[in-house]
Amino acid sequence: METSPPSPGPEPYEPITAEKKPGEKCYTMIFFPTALLVLAAGVLIRAYSDPATHASQRLPRAEIPAQAQFIDQKGFNVLPTVPPPSVSNATTFFVPPGYDAEALKEKPFHVYDEEFCDVIGSNPTLTLIANAGPHPLFHEATTWYPPTDEMFFVQNAGAPAAGTGLNKSSIVLKIALSEAAAVSSRRNATGSVNVQTVDSSPMVINPNGGTNYKGQILFAGEGQGADVPPELIVMNPVEPYNTTVLLNNCFGRQFNSLNDVSINPRNKDIYFTDTLYGYLQDFRPAPGLQNQVYRLNDVTGAVTVVADGFSLPNGVTFSPNGSHAYVADTGANRGFWGWNQSYPATLYRYGVQEDGTFENRKVFAFIDSGVPDGVHCDSKGNVYAGCGDGVQVWNPSGKLIGKIYLGEVSANFNFAGKGRMVICAEENLYYVTLAASGGGYIEA
Ligand SMILES: *[C@@H]1O[C@H](CO)[C@@H](O)[C@H](O)[C@H]1NC(C)=O
Ligand SMILES: *[C@@H]1O[C@H](CO)[C@@H](O)[C@H](O)[C@H]1NC(C)=O
Ligand SMILES: *[C@@H]1O[C@H](CO)[C@@H](O)[C@H](O)[C@H]1NC(C)=O
Ligand SMILES: *[C@@H]1O[C@H](CO)[C@@H](O)[C@H](O)[C@H]1NC(C)=O
Ligand SMILES: *[C@@H]1O[C@H](CO)[C@@H](O)[C@H](O)[C@H]1NC(C)=O
Ligand SMILES: *[C@@H]1O[C@H](CO)[C@@H](O)[C@H](O)[C@H]1NC(C)=O
Repeated sequence: METSPPSPGPEPYEPITAEKKPGEKCYTMIFFPTALLVLAAGVLIRAYSDPATHASQRLPRAEIPAQAQFIDQKGFNVLPTVPPPSVSNATTFFVPPGYDAEALKEKPFHVYDEEFCDVIGSNPTLTLIANAGPHPLFHEATTWYPPTDEMFFVQNAGAPAAGTGLNKSSIVLKIALSEAAAVSSRRNATGSVNVQTVDSSPMVINPNGGTNYKGQILFAGEGQGADVPPELIVMNPVEPYNTTVLLNNCFGRQFNSLNDVSINPRNKDIYFTDTLYGYLQDFRPAPGLQNQVYRLNDVTGAVTVVADGFSLPNGVTFSPNGSHAYVADTGANRGFWGWNQSYPATLYRYGVQEDGTFENRKVFAFIDSGVPDGVHCDSKGNVYAGCGDGVQVWNPSGKLIGKIYLGEVSANFNFAGKGRMVICAEENLYYVTLAASGGGYIEA
């Protein structure tokens, strides 16, 4: 999928200098609301009469970046036929009339709302930097380590069908971001970026989520079998990659399978999700606790529960100043029970009180493709989640503003400071340049 190279991506730490002025959008249709209404009506009629042509009827897209395209939601409000759930569902890819499955991947930055233009800037790029073949390696715990400018990520036991198996359950990997940045002008740069295995010691067992923690990396380990309990484990991100277990029980009881972990930027406490995937993927016993979100105060050692009432809680993160928490519920993906779409594929948002407790759960977003897994905010408070078709992006009000569309599942991804992102997509690993910065990035 090599395309003619646009201009090279940014150097590490350099902000992308968008050519457009602040407030100027990457397409012009919003400035013509009357024209938009007329056009939308026209699009609707054309979508009915001639679906193949309506996409070309949109207003001028001269300002849309080379790798981006506008997705006209109004254009598919009414479809000529709407297939049943056995045909069109959470695990299928919706291709609106007038679009094309390959073209959706060819221009992967999908603009659902003009706000996304500020997120992607004038020249976003997506580069395939590694392919693991039939044995998925690129799963979760995508964590940037600024001192060496490396991105860490992991594979875990996963579903047996993924071909991963328990023998590959503890793989921690990393890449040098300079190598990825060097090939960001290409669409396919497999083979150019060295994916290194990190030999953690003692070995991190079944890591899934991960985050920066006091200059080191904190993993949520899912456990293995009945005798290796799920753990929070800290790893030194430089040789000898020594590890220390921070927590391995809840008052003497095993957690089910820890999934994701995040530090609240305000109180610095550790918040983590415990869920059922170890059991649902055949490598942990039946649960001894309900699925919930916990909080660890690493000064006093106090472990408390801040939220329950989930089907299968998964990713967790905080808004940039820590005043809100986002928790993904991937209940619709039920492991060996298969998919059941009457369960959540939902991001919930909580208020985080001064005392660190959660309040006022609300539905933040329901995901149109797969389930929301890893979740992270940018510095403006926009929310990103790894979903069934790539990384989806919402503004702080929960409006879908865009997608980094892969046409395949991403369980996790993360920013590497300013304007850079790495996306794990099981067999494929991607590098992204865009205008947005990670939520935890401190301006120099
Ligand atoms: C990427 O390039 C490699 C090496 O040329 C090739 O084998 C692979 O099929 C390409 N992948 C895609 C998705 O185009
Ligand atoms: C979803 O749709 C696909 C393809 O049409 C089908 O194979 C699958 O069985 C459907 N899933 C469910 C749960 O109905
Ligand atoms: C795991 O590795 C061991 C030792 O190399 C081997 O005997 C076993 O068959 C492997 N199991 C799987 C599921 O690959
Ligand atoms: C790794 O070892 C160093 C040196 O003993 C120690 O200072 C550090 O805390 C250790 N880190 C972890 C995560 O175990
Ligand atoms: C945190 O950010 C939110 C959204 O920008 C804002 O409404 C709130 O006042 C901020 N809270 C604090 C404690 O700074
Ligand atoms: C999905 O879950 C609902 C509620 O538990 C249940 O009634 C239904 O039978 C399930 N559907 C499938 C296909 O398993």
